[in-house]
Amino acid sequence: MNILIIGSGGREHALAWKIAQSSKADKIYCAPGNAGIAEYAECVPIGAMEFDKLADFAAEKNIDLTVVGMDDPLVGGIVDVFESRGLRVFGPRKNAAILEGSKAFSKDLMKKYGIPTAAYENFDSPEAALAYLETAKYPIVLKADGLALGKGVLICETHEEAVAGVQTLMVDKQFGNAGNTIVVEEFLTGREVSVLSFVDGKTIRIMTSAQDHKRAMDGDEGLNTGGMGTFSPSPFYTAEVDAFCKEHIYQKTVDAMRAEGRPFQGVIFFGLMLTADGPKVLEYNARFGDPEAQVVLPRMKNDIIDVFNACVDGTLDTVWLEFEANAAVCVVLASDGYPVHYQKGFPISGLEQFKGKDGYYVFHAGTCFKGEDIVTNGGRVLGVTAKGANLVEARKNAYEATELISFENKYMRHDIGKAIDEA
Ligand code: AMP
Ligand code: GLY
Repeated sequence: MNILIIGSGGREHALAWKIAQSSKADKIYCAPGNAGIAEYAECVPIGAMEFDKLADFAAEKNIDLTVVGMDDPLVGGIVDVFESRGLRVFGPRKNAAILEGSKAFSKDLMKKYGIPTAAYENFDSPEAALAYLETAKYPIVLKADGLALGKGVLICETHEEAVAGVQTLMVDKQFGNAGNTIVVEEFLTGREVSVLSFVDGKTIRIMTSAQDHKRAMDGDEGLNTGGMGTFSPSPFYTAEVDAFCKEHIYQKTVDAMRAEGRPFQGVIFFGLMLTADGPKVLEYNARFGDPEAQVVLPRMKNDIIDVFNACVDGTLDTVWLEFEANAAVCVVLASDGYPVHYQKGFPISGLEQFKGKDGYYVFHAGTCFKGEDIVTNGGRVLGVTAKGANLVEARKNAYEATELISFENKYMRHDIGKAIDEA
């Protein structure tokens, strides 16, 4: 099969690597891709939001399956455009990608179908939000309804902070129209776990669990980022938690979407908080997590093309997912100053040392070619993943592997996976 991957980050590199393992994969393309993805796929300079150009390309190159990695094109309706042209594509249609595209929609869905989540109210005017916040309990959480690069969530300790938050999201519109509506939500405490799943509209198959570290600095200090590292599995995702989520969250979400006339085909990412009152959904995403994909996919035993096909064809009930009984840790190497100001364009050395090194991966997030050299080209530059027999060993391997790579302004957290010591 000829495959087209859409996206350019570490998640898409992990997908390209995994797809390349399949005996069913012939030619792989990636739009727009990056310098690491180029090892497995021919990168084509078409942007992820250029739906017509992408569909023209898929038709011209006889692409048998397009895999959409990113949220923006999914929420924007890329799958509908491809389907209307008779092109086979893995990912939710626009009317289902709303599960990620609108937090107000997903909260209302959870309320209607009794799926556990934080108590909340939606507001589409700043006046109404401000009136509510006068008598609310603090801390409280404000969320921009729409996509905001994972930055549209504000945790407000005081009434003053919440008033400033309403100003930022709804009046100054820091995230544009994403802030036209906001969700104001009860503050939850507990462990966070990311659970990815494949869905074919009716059936859901859960992948192994993972945990992300979203803050920029050690000890979970500093600003929220796209993710500074991950580990998988999460030792906090116990059999009891799994059983609860299977009963109250996963299938219920899939059934709810179907009942609403919005059957979901693709990946649902459940962002869960394990609270004292049991697991609750913090958010849904309509795609693989990044960097979650960088620890989950290397542990997956299935041929991923078979799983994609089953999701598209509605035959996922015939598929069982299998994961290795080991662990993986991914440490993100970023540019110093990320997520605010940082320089790029620095040559990266040491990448060749990962060639043929079993159980080790360098997934490129922000890199490009400058002549023969691979140079830094983003805030998150690389994800260094290592496997191990258990999490402690995987973490040791991953941190040792980060030493093999150098570039000017290299920055990383030193405590990825540290939480596992408390498990
Ligand atoms: P989200 O994009 O909704 O996952 O939110 C981003 C991050 O904000 C989450 O990973 C949590 O760390 C935090 N967060 C979101 N909602 C809540 C909540 N209700 N209570 C506490 N923290 C939250
Ligand atoms: N790592 C979080 C996300 O992909 O949204």
